[in-house]
Amino acid sequence: MAELVVALDFNDALDALNMAGVLRGHAPWVKVGLELFISEGPRIIHSLKGLGFKVFLDLKLHDIPNTVRGAALAAAASGADMMTLHLCGGERMCRAAAEAVAGLSRPPLLMGVTVLTSLAEGELPGCAVPLEMFAKTLARGASEWGMHGVVCSGHEVADIKRACPGLLCLTPGIRLAGGEGDDQRRVMTPAQAVRNGSDFLVVGRPVTRAANPAAAADAVRADMTSVQTPER
Ligand code: C5P
Repeated sequence: MAELVVALDFNDALDALNMAGVLRGHAPWVKVGLELFISEGPRIIHSLKGLGFKVFLDLKLHDIPNTVRGAALAAAASGADMMTLHLCGGERMCRAAAEAVAGLSRPPLLMGVTVLTSLAEGELPGCAVPLEMFAKTLARGASEWGMHGVVCSGHEVADIKRACPGLLCLTPGIRLAGGEGDDQRRVMTPAQAVRNGSDFLVVGRPVTRAANPAAAADAVRADMTSVQTPER
């Protein structure tokens, strides 16, 4: 069954922890992204885990292999249950991270970012192939380079699952039918993403900016559970 991750895109611990308090029991995972992590550092992960959440640390690492190896180890030590790195960093960078966490007793899930869901066709400089094809090529790499899964748009999940059956798919760019797209370009409803085979759905503003965030999270989960998970 797919799981909901609510993105706590805030720049201070008070706002993030207030929102987490409201969401307790309404979402199993929260996401700590660049804004919150740069503002508050690893202690925010500890606080969120203390509230009972699994924590997705979405820093989208992209650097030389040695630097990413060290950052992956530091992320694991912070208690993160899942983390991201850019697949465009290539095979050696991804393998360095995978090898670094492999020996740990509780290694985080390593998720490789394919193509950001905020990018529309033609917006990725130098990419001469359709974004979905590029995402699939990167996902094939991920499955060979020690990644547990990939971050991709809901539009690519079914294709990626067919090409790489063992790979987990985490999907941002989720909007309930009729909702605002904000800066996202390749969006999909929770039900559609689950139908396509997504394992984790990341939802930020539609929940955190709702008048009643707990009810909004419940609505997303209701939409997710309204469909049968496809055969894997
Ligand atoms: O507010 P919204 O639902 O658009 O938030 C989506 C979240 O997912 C943000 O925290 C964003 O950083 C993250 N994300 C994304 N696209 C990716 C990877 C992560 O939108 N490819």
